Amino acid sequence: MSPSKSSRPFVCAANWKMHKSPREALEYAKAFSAKARELPVSRTTILFVPAVDLWVTQEALRDTNVGWGAQCCHWELKGAFTGETSPAVLAEILTPYCLVGHSERRTLFGETDEMTGRKVKALHSVGIVPMLCVGETLEERESGKTNLVIERQLRAGLAHRDPALSVLIAYEPVWAIGTGRVATSAQANEAHVFTRSILESIGGTAFAQRTPILYGGSVKAENAAEIGGQPEVDGFLVGGASLDVDSFWAIVKA
Ligand code: PGA
Repeated sequence: MSPSKSSRPFVCAANWKMHKSPREALEYAKAFSAKARELPVSRTTILFVPAVDLWVTQEALRDTNVGWGAQCCHWELKGAFTGETSPAVLAEILTPYCLVGHSERRTLFGETDEMTGRKVKALHSVGIVPMLCVGETLEERESGKTNLVIERQLRAGLAHRDPALSVLIAYEPVWAIGTGRVATSAQANEAHVFTRSILESIGGTAFAQRTPILYGGSVKAENAAEIGGQPEVDGFLVGGASLDVDSFWAIVKA
C-alpha cells in the first residue's frame, strides 16, 4: 500500500437505490452495525438509503461507527419543489453524507453537471459531505472520451464546493453499473489516477491526497480484494451486492 493511500480512510458504501422499507432498513442497520463494531477506525462504512428510511436509519446508527446518507437532494434549502428533499432537512436529522450525480440520476432524471455543482454547494452550506459520482458511458469509453467526461463532471460538480469541507468521489463507469460487467483493476486504477490529477488541479495536492476515490460498478466479494488493492482505489460504492447484509459485509471484509 502506498503511504498516501494508507493516510486516507478506506470507505465501503452501500447504495440501496429504491429498495427497502423503513422496517427492512432498521433490521439491516442493526445487523450491519453489530458486525461493523470490529472494524478499525481506518475503515469507514456508509449506508445510502431511500429518503423515507433516513429517520429510522439514523436512530439505529447514531451511536455506532456506521455512517448513513441520502441518495439525492435538491440544491435549494426550501421552496416550491414538489417531491424533493431539502439539504437543510437532511442536516436537521444529522445526515452526514449525500450522493450527488449518480449515473441513474443523470440518465433517468436529467440531473445535469450544473445541478451537481449547485447540490454540492447546498450540501456544504449545511455541513453535509457530498459523494460526487462520475463516470463514462460505454459509448464514451469506446470513443476515447473517458477522461474528458470525468474531468467535465469533476470540474462542474466541485465548482462551488467549500474548500474547508470534505468531499468523497465515486468513479462509476456507467457500463459497469448493475450489469455484472466490472472494470478491470487496471482500468479502475487508471481512471482513479486521472481523477486524482484533476482533483489536484482543482484544489491542490493536499485536497487531492486526502480525498477518497471509491470505485463502483458490479463490485462483489469475489472482485473486491483485487480492485480494492489497487494503489489509487480508496473504497467501493456498492449497489446490488449491498442489499443483503452478509454479502455487503463480505465486501467490507475483503
Ligand atoms: P452495482 O451499482 O453495484 O449494482 O453495479 C453500483 C451503483 O450504482 O452505485
